[in-house]
Amino acid sequence: MVRIAILASGSGTNAQQLMGHFQGHATAEVVLICSDKPRAGVAQRAWDMGVPCYLFNGAALKDGTLLHELEAYRIDLVVLAGFMRLIPVEMVLAFPDRITNIHPALLPKYGGKGMFGEHVHKAVLAAGEKESGITIHLVNERYDEGQVLFQAACPVLPEDDADALAARIHAMEHAHYPAVVEGIVNSIRDKTVE
Ligand code: GAR
Repeated sequence: MVRIAILASGSGTNAQQLMGHFQGHATAEVVLICSDKPRAGVAQRAWDMGVPCYLFNGAALKDGTLLHELEAYRIDLVVLAGFMRLIPVEMVLAFPDRITNIHPALLPKYGGKGMFGEHVHKAVLAAGEKESGITIHLVNERYDEGQVLFQAACPVLPEDDADALAARIHAMEHAHYPAVVEGIVNSIRDKTVE
């Protein structure tokens, strides 16, 4: 089995989709949710799904404590789903091409430090963009700059506010992220079998 850990800071709707997708799956399982926000919705969602939730703070991310936990759980693939902190270089090196992120815009536009959640949608609307979308990419040591694996676009409508745009984007994320992660799982499994 390919063992997946999800890192999340927020409500956790993407984490929920991923946990559901891989429940009873033949080749992968979500074995751990990791959150830097003890009161985040994702912790409750993990509880409801019976998946262990590991809570950590910024120091534990930087000093290798989280990395140690991921190794103790024999994690093969780290999936960021609404995780707001920068991944330290040590973790990037420990999981080469094995950390993914989802971003609620068409990178390289509207990425970088501070560009998360509603800040992204507000910036897209303020710029008068006619289209936005989602990007799923590999994670390197810089915000939102790793290799793009998947993008899908959607219209920005004249009457949209940040909530309306966020809802459209969330629906796309839920539709695509589990399938893209499954593709990575298959390539990990194929390499293991070789
Ligand atoms: C998602 O829209 C995700 O793309 C975004 O946070 C939201 C989390 O929602 N991530 C970023 O902005 C990363 N820069 P969720 O907690 O409901 O899954």
